[in-house]
Amino acid sequence: MTELNVNIDHVATIRQARKADYPDPVWAAALAELAGADGITCHLRIDRRHIQERDLRILRQTVRTKLNLEVSTAQDPLGVAMEVGPDIVTLVPERPEELTTEGGLSVTHNRDAITNAVNLLGERDIRISVFIDPSIDQIKAAHEIGIKMIEINTTRYVEAPNADTRRKEYGQVMDAVRLAEKLKMRIAAGHALDYKNVGPIAAIPQVTELNIGHAVIARAVLVGMERAVREMIEAIRLGEPPAA
Ligand code: PXP
Repeated sequence: MTELNVNIDHVATIRQARKADYPDPVWAAALAELAGADGITCHLRIDRRHIQERDLRILRQTVRTKLNLEVSTAQDPLGVAMEVGPDIVTLVPERPEELTTEGGLSVTHNRDAITNAVNLLGERDIRISVFIDPSIDQIKAAHEIGIKMIEINTTRYVEAPNADTRRKEYGQVMDAVRLAEKLKMRIAAGHALDYKNVGPIAAIPQVTELNIGHAVIARAVLVGMERAVREMIEAIRLGEPPAA
């Protein structure tokens, strides 16, 4: 079944809102794993607005499944990634003013920075993924650099304003998936997925893992982490293809 990596950034967002020492994203990660999550994802942003280096260092010691760290190609977070050694590093674009990651990383426009990051992380045997829009050009460029894993940005599909656009966006996701499969890449997907829209993405057999944060943490605030994670696992299991 498609794996669920729970992104715990927003547990840290609540903590940082008061610069308190709770709630602890490390605890949240443990609860998510106990509820059946297949991995823990977090984003060490340059401005450290949510996850802190302390979180990452403890998560590296406590996460029993897999730890996926999102970072930009800037020197600062890459250095921390090298030191901590997560199982996967997902390269993402980062704009200081953004509320959340706004789009996929353009591999075609950032070839040198991405190649540097790949070479650096390769020294530590860390699996490297790039978060990209569902675009043939981006996948080809990632493959040329030697990247073997991608995370497809699902935002445009999820936020499509009507059924026609949604069908078109789903088609783009499927084209991207088919090419990545042909190139023998491991395929993840994520961003803006929730309990209602996850089905058609979870139903794509080549997509082996999903990174989901906001929807799960928002629900966990009300119903508890264990139930929020279990319900997402159930939504993924039920994954339905899109309406024709
Ligand atoms: N994938 C990537 C690359 C992200 O940057 C994020 C947000 O940090 C997610 C997935 C999770 O997105 P959401 O919080 O909308 O589920």
